[in-house]
Order: sequence, then structure tokens, then C-alpha cells
Amino acid sequence: MALLKVYEYPDPILKKKAEKVEKVDDELRRFMDDMLETMYDAVGVGLAAPQVGVSKRIVVIDTTHEGEKPEPLYLVNPEIIWKSEEKVCGEEGCLSVPEQRAEVERFASVKLRYLDYDGKEHEELIEDFLAIVVQHELDHLDGILYIDRISRLKRQMLLKKLQKLRDGQE
Ligand code: NI
Repeated sequence: MALLKVYEYPDPILKKKAEKVEKVDDELRRFMDDMLETMYDAVGVGLAAPQVGVSKRIVVIDTTHEGEKPEPLYLVNPEIIWKSEEKVCGEEGCLSVPEQRAEVERFASVKLRYLDYDGKEHEELIEDFLAIVVQHELDHLDGILYIDRISRLKRQMLLKKLQKLRDGQE
């Protein structure tokens, strides 16, 4: 396994709509293993392939806490096929927008169709925190960042803080 480079805002790869995966094979599984390792290393709960520079519809997620048994979720060609009327607001962060957080509105639950690590199709109702993570990660596949879903004023403030952080790192 290998750690992959995480691309950060405003890299154009993050704005691109990702392409469907044609086949779940060993090469793809190796890539998903690398994505998962990269996500754990960065202490993230989700990672989408465009964030590591690959414009394909692949997401890895693990919302378990440190010390708990890992429960990785591999989503290939994931699609939201139903959304609840109810919406929720929660703070989100993103490995591609380091050290920033903002409140984002999401659907409280969604029904998800996807292929797993073995290429098997699933349909599942996803709720609670996992539903928020799924919507955040699926957005990445359509070139959308969570900062695209907050007000312009909040986005400007957040991007200013990000710039300050980067200036301090130089
Ligand atoms: Ni993200």
C-alpha cells in the first residue's frame, strides 16, 4: 500500500465531474486500499478519488472512532436514489480544505446505490452522521466542495483563513 498525495483547493481536479468506473478489478481494489490508507493517515472520515488526483467515481469512508475496530466502506459509482424531506445542519471539514470547518445543510437520510469492494451492488438507507459524510463525498465526484454550499460571505472568510494558514506555513 502507498500514501497518495491529497490535492487541495483550488486545484482544478477538485472542480471536475468524475467518470464512472467500468470494472471493479484488482487494480481498482489496490487503488481503494491506497485511498483508505491515505484517509486514515490524514485522520479523515471520508475521501473521494478526485481528492487524490483521480477523476473516477470512487469514495472510501470510515466513521468509526480511533481505537474502535475499523469499518471501511468502499463506494464505487455511488448514486443517491432517494433523499429525505428532513434536512440537518452539521459542521463539516475536508482534507482538501485543510483545518477549516463550516456548517452545511444536508438531507437527514438518503438511499444509496453503489458497488462494493467486490463489485457487488447494494442499495442502503443511510442515516445520521454517515448520511452527511456520504453527501459530502459524493459532492466531490461532481466537482462540488462543501464550501460551495455555504454563503458567499462565509466562504470568503473561510478562504481568507486558509490563505493565512498557508502564508504561515511558507
Ligand atoms: Ni471533502
